[in-house]
Amino acid sequence: MSQKPDNHFKVEQAAASDDSIQQVHAQLLGQKPEKKDGYPMLPLVFLGVMCSAVFFGSIYMAHNSVRFDPLVVNEHAKREKPGAVKVAAVSPHDLGKRVFKNTCMACHQENGLGVPGAFPPLAGSEWAQGPEDRVIRIVLLGLNGPITVKGQEYNSAMASLGGVLKDDQIANALTYVRSEWGNTASAVTPEAVAKVRAELAGRTAPWTAAELLKIGN
Ligand code: HEC
Repeated sequence: MSQKPDNHFKVEQAAASDDSIQQVHAQLLGQKPEKKDGYPMLPLVFLGVMCSAVFFGSIYMAHNSVRFDPLVVNEHAKREKPGAVKVAAVSPHDLGKRVFKNTCMACHQENGLGVPGAFPPLAGSEWAQGPEDRVIRIVLLGLNGPITVKGQEYNSAMASLGGVLKDDQIANALTYVRSEWGNTASAVTPEAVAKVRAELAGRTAPWTAAELLKIGN
């Protein structure tokens, strides 16, 4: 008599699964039973939101990015006028150095010292650093006859270069010559060369030093 209910209870308890026990517990505590199938919903929704944020964010970036243009992204970058063509800034001095190397160096030498007895020096020369009206004329039409440079007498001839060099090339070459090797004379502008060229009034004969001394101050 005392064994039968005992056995019956044992059988029922053995049939109870973990789930049924949990459900009973949940009901007892007044909770809803937990879903057991699939993934928990909240992280899935969250993942979806994040994925679409990245997806649509990429599309937005692709359409609206400035491709990390330093002019837009970097506030310290120099801003150029829109449409301005970028030209590497080469100074008149450096442009003139090229003209000098191509056109003047053969005679006056790279160090500007010339060749004693043949080509007068430009380094330290009172002519090279003299009035620009004279040096421009020398390059435009050349120079003939006796000339004293740094106390040395020369009596030779320099060909006219006004036909092969443009105004800005002459200006840059003279700017270089007048500020190189310790020379300290003012720069020469293309406008100044153009002005002197106009004043030649058809003259083609080279200058003499005596003639030039009357020009300029
Ligand atoms: C073919 C050789 C030759 C070339 C090239 C030449 N010169 Fe001369 N240059 C001379 C000679 C020679 C004299 C002196 C002429 C004389 O004796 O009357 C002279 C004189 C001068 C003088 C005045 C004297 C002095 O020494 O300061 C200047 C300035 C001068 N040249 C600048 C130039 C410049 C700038 C160039 C290039 C754009 C140039 N020359 C290219 C041969 C040359």
